[in-house]
Amino acid sequence: MNSLQPFLTVAPVKPAAAAMLPSSRRARVSACLATPVPVPAPTAARTGELSAASRDVVEDEARYMVGTYKRGARVVFVAGRGCKLYDIDGRDNVGYTVPQVELAKRLVQASFADRAFFANSGTEANEAAIKFARKYQRVMCPDGDAPTEFVCFTNCFHGRTMGSLALTSKVHYREPFEPFMPGSTFVEYGNLEEAKKVIQSGKIAAVFVEPVQGDGGIHIATNEFLQGLRDACDEAGALLVFDEVQCGLGRTGYLWAYEIFGVEPDMMSLAKPLANGLPIGMVLVKEKISAAIDYGDHGTTFGGSPFVCRAALTVLDKIQKPGFLAAVSKKGENFRQLLKTKLSGNSHVKEIRGIGLIVGIELDVPAGPSVDACLDAGVFLLTAGKGNVVRLVPPLIISEKELEQAAEVIRDCLSALES
Ligand SMILES: Cc1ncc(COP(=O)(O)O)c(C=O)c1O
Repeated sequence: MNSLQPFLTVAPVKPAAAAMLPSSRRARVSACLATPVPVPAPTAARTGELSAASRDVVEDEARYMVGTYKRGARVVFVAGRGCKLYDIDGRDNVGYTVPQVELAKRLVQASFADRAFFANSGTEANEAAIKFARKYQRVMCPDGDAPTEFVCFTNCFHGRTMGSLALTSKVHYREPFEPFMPGSTFVEYGNLEEAKKVIQSGKIAAVFVEPVQGDGGIHIATNEFLQGLRDACDEAGALLVFDEVQCGLGRTGYLWAYEIFGVEPDMMSLAKPLANGLPIGMVLVKEKISAAIDYGDHGTTFGGSPFVCRAALTVLDKIQKPGFLAAVSKKGENFRQLLKTKLSGNSHVKEIRGIGLIVGIELDVPAGPSVDACLDAGVFLLTAGKGNVVRLVPPLIISEKELEQAAEVIRDCLSALES
């Protein structure tokens, strides 16, 4: 919590709100929010020379982040009060922030990637990936005729801004906002032969795919499909982009869903759980893509803010604790088994599928009424697919006991379908 304090300048928690929290949490929240911003003690005036501590951050930034920003001031900010920002050595000045560089480094070191780009949401992460793919292809084909199109898949969801929506399949999300950026081809999820034909056309800048589809109805790719896409992209010079906004960061029981299949992408988008509810999005990329990006090609005001990145580092600490991911796998397996037992007599349940703690219950009727009934009974679920799938994406810290309780509520609410 100490590390969050420099970025919290808000008033202490109001007594009424604080009273609603359990006492230990109340104490922690109050301690965090009520503490005045500590300003580092000044050391020396700036000489233009970086201290060793500042130099480490500057060097890591150059090593682990996509170079979209030419940093005007080589100053590492660690705190702010009023109009002043304070650098790592305690000098007030007008950079770099430590949590951002630390998070980029941690994610790069834990993944296939060489560098990271920060955004604020999943859709923004995919927008960045779209731009990076176009720019990469342009650099690779300097004499013109660079491939500019995209392959995506049925039931996919990549976000609601205009680029990501152009790559999203659901008619309901798309139709009111057409026309889109041209050049998206939707291929049936899992149909490698069809995908290969399009990729081999030579027009494809990148293939966007979710290794596990969430909104589309909890569909899990196969090794053959993803490996086939990898090979086809390599042959055609197209980039392979995995959207792990929903299935990444431990959701499947693996840190990254791509690890299940042993197939690595060229880029990967992340968001949702990374900062535990605070707005964040990221694209992790291979060096060859980062090398094609110049200062100013892309950017964002709030992406990678120190407060949000510090929260994300705390999330990452938790997910990477020994045994955490194994527990997600085990809880998910037990939960699916439990659901299969409890729902076995329900004739409307067609399939229960998933991996880790991303689970779908496919029905032969609309799932909305059951999801509403579960909410009334205290269990928050979502629909997916064509509205016929109950989507369960519980917090990864959920206990076996809580999952048992949820399974009972789901059984009772779905049994209403029979009558
Ligand atoms: C796979 C996938 N990609 C992208 C997004 C868009 O993320 P955001 O809502 O943060 O823009 C989502 C959101 O549900 C998602 O599930």
